[in-house]
Amino acid sequence: MNRRHFIVSGSATLATLLALQDSVPFLQGQQERVSSNPIDRLPLLFGTDYYPDQTPESLWEKDAADMAAVGITNVRIAEFAWALMEPQEGSFDFKWLERAVGILHSHQIAVILGTPSAAPPPWLTQKYPEVLMVNEHGVTLSPGTRRFTCPTNATYRRLSLAVATAMAHSFASTPGVIGWQIDNEFTLGESPRCYCRFCREGFQQWLRGKYPSLDALNQAWGTVFWSNTYTDFSQIPVPLPSGAPPNPGLALDYDRYQSAANSSFLEEQLTMLRKLCPAHFITTNNVGAADFIDLRELYRNLDFVSSDNYPGFFAIHASVSGSGASAPPEVIVPMVGFTHDFMRSVKDGEPFLIMEEQSGKAGQPFFSPQPEPGQLRLWSYQAVAHGAMGINYFRWDTTNFGAEEYWHGMLRHDRSHSPGFDEMQQTIRELKSLGHEALNARYDADIALCFDSSSDWALAIQPGQPRLKYLTEILSWYGCIAASHAGIDVVDATQDLGRYKVLCSPAMYVVSRKQADRIRHFVDGGGTFIAGFRLGVKDEHSRIVDTPLPGLLRDVMGVELVDYEPIYSEKQGVKFSGPLAGADAECHIWADILDPKSKDAEVLATYTGAQYAGKAAITSHRFGKGRAIYLGPHLEGADLARVLLTLLGSSGVPRSIQAPPGIEVTSRHTDRQRWTYLLNHTAKPQSLQVDGRYQDVLDHSAVSSPINIDPYGVKILVRS
Ligand code: GLA
Ligand code: ZN
Repeated sequence: MNRRHFIVSGSATLATLLALQDSVPFLQGQQERVSSNPIDRLPLLFGTDYYPDQTPESLWEKDAADMAAVGITNVRIAEFAWALMEPQEGSFDFKWLERAVGILHSHQIAVILGTPSAAPPPWLTQKYPEVLMVNEHGVTLSPGTRRFTCPTNATYRRLSLAVATAMAHSFASTPGVIGWQIDNEFTLGESPRCYCRFCREGFQQWLRGKYPSLDALNQAWGTVFWSNTYTDFSQIPVPLPSGAPPNPGLALDYDRYQSAANSSFLEEQLTMLRKLCPAHFITTNNVGAADFIDLRELYRNLDFVSSDNYPGFFAIHASVSGSGASAPPEVIVPMVGFTHDFMRSVKDGEPFLIMEEQSGKAGQPFFSPQPEPGQLRLWSYQAVAHGAMGINYFRWDTTNFGAEEYWHGMLRHDRSHSPGFDEMQQTIRELKSLGHEALNARYDADIALCFDSSSDWALAIQPGQPRLKYLTEILSWYGCIAASHAGIDVVDATQDLGRYKVLCSPAMYVVSRKQADRIRHFVDGGGTFIAGFRLGVKDEHSRIVDTPLPGLLRDVMGVELVDYEPIYSEKQGVKFSGPLAGADAECHIWADILDPKSKDAEVLATYTGAQYAGKAAITSHRFGKGRAIYLGPHLEGADLARVLLTLLGSSGVPRSIQAPPGIEVTSRHTDRQRWTYLLNHTAKPQSLQVDGRYQDVLDHSAVSSPINIDPYGVKILVRS
């Protein structure tokens, strides 16, 4: 999923999130895990993304001096400068970059170098046109922008590695250089996957490694259907347009292959950098929750996650889609919160770096409004409140040319200070004073939300109902449970879940044996598992299970499905009872019709529509020491929020502070201290009640109830 798709999906949660007007409890995390961060030796990173390649050299000295005066610790540079670094094949010129690094270093500004593979120069595509990506319609992409190349292509890989290697040789021991960003946003492209002949060969090769034999592959995919039985790996196609939709098993494996191809592309540069630059950290950057690459796989061997954060995009989309002016904080805040939680969770909660943070109006054809006074600071604190350890503002200046000439940086087009300049300077100063321990503290999370690429991709291949989208479901659920202020980690349910009280998993369409075993163990041990419809329909090969649904999780859920149905114009409704008692709800898009099989299963809601009137819609099953709750209907907005918040309320997640809508509350801890972040995303002053006495870390004042927070204001509290 590219950024545009993410925003479109995200906007589908507007209805849900707008409905969340309840005042909600503040949940204090209880875990005692401490940071085992391998990057504890990192300096503080409060910097900016800088483009000496786009800036006259006569300005570099002043830029560096001005950055130093602002308190900037570092820059990220060079990630799109391939044409300057290698003007002709094999002839490298790093002199200009050495001068730039030297000037920055003389002002104590450290440098993160970007390898330039995201934007190959024209000589390369002219000489080797086969490196160009072929999109899902079979169309070869044009060069002249960025991210238009094939991740499999050996020539593109060789040349990408060559320029990165030459850079590494030149800068391995250059004073001031501290780390690397490999490539730039693998998840960014307009066309997320490549379908060229090299990828087809790569796919076949990858399949040879994955399946013990061709027979095993034929079995797993069910290729007997439509006479697709393969007698040689070289016959296997890629899912380009054909006479009918592709085999779902093939299509899912192709998505996995493309993810693996991007990861192995990155690994080539990573292996080289580890060897040549052992003293440097190595990362790559992506927009949170862009989902066509498995980011857990991409980041596995990198030192930390880097994330790019542009909250202003959501406002642009709300306007383009005709849903109104800019989106309110109730909508944007949880969507941004989700991207932070997602990125932090990619490496199991280790602190992450914001490699690019919005610093003004942002966008290409359309650009977002100028953030309100206070918002740039607030968004930076929001990232830190969700686990960031540092922030780079994108970008230092605003270029007067090129596709991003309206991407407003810390300086304007005439290099005067932008409207948010002073605020960013203040934020940098404040965040630095927070110090290493607070910035590397562990985020508190009692709730796990399952996000798994296999379910995501398999449901995109065969959604069942055109409006059913995995990421939309995830965002809807996130928006609802985030209103509880319980910290949320995003997991894939293949790991130990014992540290959480609740696991939420909408649309877990593909369930592997490992995931089923983890979930069973979690519930057995006392956890609450809340699952949505389309649970356990498929195995890892995208074959539908041959048992009653929910397949491997039938024993845990204590129910079997009577039927499942997509809903179009038919009327389906839900009547709640017991702990969920409340007004009836409408059910759109999807309904799983449940039949309790276990004596320990309790019906919490029934359907009211036509043929399934009276059948179970929501069930709760006591299993071992825990509970497994099945939400059969697709519920929207306030209904889903009410159900989830009620269920969370009875799941042992502790409560303390009440926070009004538009206020975010998170906390991070070490074994010594807990920092509680209170963020006011509204334009009004807010006040809230807390138990006990605290110290405000920012102004060192003693605080107790009621705590007043300015419009777009921030408080960071520690117990006094
Ligand atoms: C992305 C990229 C940057 C720049 C900004 C603005 O995150 O990494 O190169 O394009 O967004 O689009
Ligand atoms: Zn390709």
